[in-house]
Amino acid sequence: MAAPISSTRGPQQSTCDVVILAAGKGSRLNSQLPKVLHPLLGKPLLGHVIAAVHQLMEQPSTNRLALGRIVVVVGHGRQQVEDYLATITSDVPIVTVVQTPQQGTGHALQQVANQLLDLAETVLLLAGDVPLLRGASLADLLASHQRASASITVLGATVANPTGYGRLIVAGNALQRIVEEKDTTDAEKVVKVVNTGVAAYHWPTISPLLEKLSNANAQGEWYATDLVGLANTAGYPVATVLLDDADDMQGVNTRVDLAHTERLLQERINRHWMLAGVTMADPQTTWIGPDVKLEADVTLEPGTRLLGQTTVASHATIGPWTTLTNAIVGSRSTVYQSVVTDSIIGEQCTVGPFAHIRNQCVLGNHVRLGNFVEAKATTIADHSNAAHLAYLGNATIGHHVNMGAGSIIANYDPIRLTKTHTTIGDGAKVGCNAVLVAPVTLGEDTCVAAGSTVTRDVADGDLAIARSRQTVVEGWVTTQYAQQKAAPDGAQPPQGSQAAPQGMPAHSPQ
Ligand code: UD1
Ligand code: CA
Repeated sequence: MAAPISSTRGPQQSTCDVVILAAGKGSRLNSQLPKVLHPLLGKPLLGHVIAAVHQLMEQPSTNRLALGRIVVVVGHGRQQVEDYLATITSDVPIVTVVQTPQQGTGHALQQVANQLLDLAETVLLLAGDVPLLRGASLADLLASHQRASASITVLGATVANPTGYGRLIVAGNALQRIVEEKDTTDAEKVVKVVNTGVAAYHWPTISPLLEKLSNANAQGEWYATDLVGLANTAGYPVATVLLDDADDMQGVNTRVDLAHTERLLQERINRHWMLAGVTMADPQTTWIGPDVKLEADVTLEPGTRLLGQTTVASHATIGPWTTLTNAIVGSRSTVYQSVVTDSIIGEQCTVGPFAHIRNQCVLGNHVRLGNFVEAKATTIADHSNAAHLAYLGNATIGHHVNMGAGSIIANYDPIRLTKTHTTIGDGAKVGCNAVLVAPVTLGEDTCVAAGSTVTRDVADGDLAIARSRQTVVEGWVTTQYAQQKAAPDGAQPPQGSQAAPQGMPAHSPQ
């Protein structure tokens, strides 16, 4: 949860504050959504960066460096970004600093310095649009920064194609300055060691340099990267740490970057789960969010997307062509060509093909929801079935219940615009094409005749029939054919059931 800024706290030796820049518009995305809220495997870019900070806290090398708070610089789409931050659970307080207008990363840091006078001695700068960095890399950066007693330690990487990134200009072994893409000379353009956008600062040394930044550059912005040159000029020690895996620094500036970054994350996550014992028939079409948890011996078929806080237990099979979002699936269950959202499926259940389970459904064990069944806000106890073409909404269904093909719970009150509840007791059998008009209760071991529309409660052990009684007209068809045969024009009776004799109502095929 975002917490208020504490104005009483003084700088502490062993504390590190994290600053995440998230105020930019992200013009190159051509989007109404602020850049840092664009999702990567279902989670906004900014969420990935905050998760990396949380991972950082778990790294052994940072045990002696306590994280003070996470400062997020907001500006463009401020309200949306703040609303998102309010949904994040964090042991480290998250606070915001507003930057309006947005005049560059250095300008963003100036706002932080102006608005938070009690920043920690060490400040870790992260960019909200660089989502793949790992906590371990951040921990290495901080450890190296502390060891070298540097004023700035820049996290760099060697990449095959440096286009778009700031270049690290080195003389001898020492980092001299960073040149942004648009300010590079031809000689600088070929430099393949680039800035990830991440740096550690000794804040008491660096913050006074912020006012020396200038916007005399190709973009007319104040660049945080110019702090490197200024620190060198002032004679302060500047250091660099290079990432082992340059893929981790992929920044998102365009939708092409977004797709590429999502693919990199997909490969990383899939590899992790395959090594942990998950079978993936087709890793390329299997998309697993960063917060998903899978047990060993889960099988994922092609086209499976697992998002949000989904967990799948051992020996379950998911897919093909299935999306689970915030779903819990018990062991040995199968979910086939289906969509499950915000719901729990017990053990040894069979879901699909083409089922849709949503809005806090809870399925017990050995439940079967089959072809074209939709369940919404419904609890279904063990060994119950709705195998074909049913709608189950706002209901509590007992165990060993059978919902026949085409059975519908009419849960919507169109006058009061509300949903009402239906209770179905253990062992109840609801016939095909029955409609249960809520609110209604079927007792234990009740039976509803096929085609019934049930509007009143049914007591334990009773049968409800609510349909018009069948009439049989004996010999009617035979008589019709006989009359036609005897007709003076000698007309032939129709073949089989393809056409009805005159006067007989047309009927549907079997
Ligand atoms: C930045 C770096 C570049 C580095 C690259 C890595 C600078 C000047 N350049 O370039 O050296 O190689 O990241 O990905 O730092 N932001 C603000 N306020 C602003 C401007 C930007 O909060 O006024 C935020 C953006 O929302 C974004 C981050 O800062 O999250 C980086 O800004 P962006 O404009 O994307 O910088 P790059 O051109 O990618
Ligand atoms: Ca960027």
